[in-house]
Amino acid sequence: MNDPRTASARIRSDIAHNARVWNYWLGGRDNYPVDRVVGDRVTGMYPSIGEVARADRAFLGRVVRHLAGDVGIGQFLDIGTGLPTADNTHEVAQHTAPDARVVYVDNDPTVLAHARSLLTSSPEGATEYLDADARDPERILRAAEGTLDLRRPVAVMMLGILNFVLDTDEARSVVDGLMGPLPSGSHLVLTHPTLELGGEGNEAAMSFWNKNATPPITARSRPVFASFFDGLDVLDPGIVSCAHWRPDGRLLPAPVAQFGAVGRKP
Ligand SMILES: C[S@@+](CC[C@H](N)C(=O)[O-])C[C@H]1O[C@@H](n2cnc3c(N)ncnc32)[C@H](O)[C@@H]1O
Repeated sequence: MNDPRTASARIRSDIAHNARVWNYWLGGRDNYPVDRVVGDRVTGMYPSIGEVARADRAFLGRVVRHLAGDVGIGQFLDIGTGLPTADNTHEVAQHTAPDARVVYVDNDPTVLAHARSLLTSSPEGATEYLDADARDPERILRAAEGTLDLRRPVAVMMLGILNFVLDTDEARSVVDGLMGPLPSGSHLVLTHPTLELGGEGNEAAMSFWNKNATPPITARSRPVFASFFDGLDVLDPGIVSCAHWRPDGRLLPAPVAQFGAVGRKP
């Protein structure tokens, strides 16, 4: 199931894959010509896509530092991990709390093939990888139990992935299926593309993506994004462009068309 040899057989180099194009936009090298062609076409239509990718990763860093440090969460379930890049969840978490335990989940075979470079835990902590589909939360929690103590709070991170669960009811049931069994004090961390925060060309770029790449994507409105946090207490500053979630610098960076928010299970 987690076997990188079977992953190679599943890798398709004839169609752009989100994990690899995201890697391209982040300046990585784990991508194919088809990914670069589609990535460049999308950038041509929607020039701020690279900023979205970088703002999303910077959000990840700030949130994980906050949760591992100020909140004291020691367990992270990062679903839709993407290809390893700088400042992956376990690196940020274990830098703050060396005994942090992290389970990564993705369904892309290229991510699985690179998983070994993700699995570099601190000696005190643990890092695991699971090749699974986000639409199967039960299986994910069952498998994560080998590494995480699900009786203690967990931070469930789904950055830039619910947008690939096209049916909103199904996306909500994925969130409920993950958060439902977890104890009070668990957190949900989401980012999601939207057409409501500007981003000239975003809609055309998504429509191009859906004809030329995989998996297909959708944007969501603020009320729909907010509904993923039903029953949770959303931390300050609420639902904002992910670039505006507790930014590090004094100056507010330019917003990107990607919502970001963190909710705590009461
Ligand atoms: C836009 S990337 C985001 C990567 C990382 N979370 C970040 O924020 O930088 C989305 C990732 O979700 C993964 N993905 C998409 N649909 C998925 C699904 N149904 N199950 C698991 N992973 C999925 C893709 O393979 C890709 O690696």
